[in-house]
Amino acid sequence: MAILNIVKTGDDILKKKSRPVEKIDERIFTLLEDMKETLKEANGAGLAAVQVGILKRVVIIDDGSGPVELINPEIIKTEGEVEVYEGCLSFPDVWVVKKRPLKVWGKALDREGNEITFDGVEGLFAQAFCHETDHLDGTLLPDNIVRYADPEEFEDSPRRKRRK
Ligand code: NI
Repeated sequence: MAILNIVKTGDDILKKKSRPVEKIDERIFTLLEDMKETLKEANGAGLAAVQVGILKRVVIIDDGSGPVELINPEIIKTEGEVEVYEGCLSFPDVWVVKKRPLKVWGKALDREGNEITFDGVEGLFAQAFCHETDHLDGTLLPDNIVRYADPEEFEDSPRRKRRK
């Protein structure tokens, strides 16, 4: 396993669309392991492969209950709306307020190629699911924001400070 370099704002690769994974092979396993280690080291809530320079639809989410591997994740439907603070490992020191769905229905493949579904998930996992699927389409932290935020506004909410 290896800790990978996280691509930062200013690199145009972040604006590119990632390609679906067609074959889950040894290279994808290695990518998943390296991404998990990189996310843990960065203490983030989520990481998309494009953030380590790989344009494949591969994502790791960790809402505090352990890393979840997602291959070809898709949002199926959403419900409601909530304003949330959001950060991104590719945008150090930038915090924004965004409107995100209250509940998310989604699907993805696990590393065995089995479909996994998420039915009406909420909270940090739902927010990260939306943030990471945005990454796969080249949509970034400063896009579609309500406003920029000052970290002091949410100092008492450390969970919200974990970046994606
Ligand atoms: Ni991000």
